[in-house]
Amino acid sequence: MRQTLLDLRRIAAERKIAMLTCYDASFAAVLDRAGIDSLLIGDSLGMVIQGHDSTLPVTVDDVAYHTRAVARGSQRAFIIADMPFGSYQGSPQTGFDQAVRLMQAGAQMVKLEGGEEMAPTIAFIVERGIPVCGHVGLTPQHVNRFGGYRIQGRGQAAARIRAAARAVVEAGAEMLVIEAVPEPVGRAIAAESKALTIGIGASSTCSGQVLVLHDMLGVATDKRPRFVKNFLRDAGSVEAAARAYLAQVQSGQFPAAEHVYSDSN
Ligand code: KIV
Repeated sequence: MRQTLLDLRRIAAERKIAMLTCYDASFAAVLDRAGIDSLLIGDSLGMVIQGHDSTLPVTVDDVAYHTRAVARGSQRAFIIADMPFGSYQGSPQTGFDQAVRLMQAGAQMVKLEGGEEMAPTIAFIVERGIPVCGHVGLTPQHVNRFGGYRIQGRGQAAARIRAAARAVVEAGAEMLVIEAVPEPVGRAIAAESKALTIGIGASSTCSGQVLVLHDMLGVATDKRPRFVKNFLRDAGSVEAAARAYLAQVQSGQFPAAEHVYSDSN
């Protein structure tokens, strides 16, 4: 049976949540069999599937297509679909209309990037029955403002990231991805947030962790960020790699100190 948000909350009360990105039915079946709790159809598909150098060219049609495939391939994992660049920033109504398309494709929650500026859109979508996952820290759709894929929230900027997280959760987001921030910032957000927190280069104290599937399988060829670990190398098969990831997230072995950022590294 398909897990619900309520199931994820129950899991988080006992252990860490293991999430991976996924884009097709075959991998969805393998990851589901391995027991991965949640599958994210990330707009990272623009980079790892389509070969772009950013997530910006991804459309709602693209995410809906891959969401349908992942929903068909899996039976148990909780499915989250990313709202791509330009599909929700215009107005709350536009955001809701595009979120509906992703829910109709098989998502159980939509994810969107941003802080205070997204609060009205998050509230609008949540009040109309669609659960929202926020995404703060390194938000790849802002790559042109950041001037590259850089760690966010160092020094004085920590307060800004924490305020963004608070605004998103207060607006109604029930889950929050925290990407590439110093560990103390990730830890603080996890501690003060009533939403489930999912870290990627944030902190092992988050409610769970997420990685891009191609990164954890060692497929992506580009320079890998610090938070990536290759689970396939020692595992020998994709399913065994997913099981190893699940076990290491559950036990708190991943992320280790080498996978998170300090204020200087
Ligand atoms: O698009 C994506 O894959 C993501 C994860 C990195 C969290 O947003």
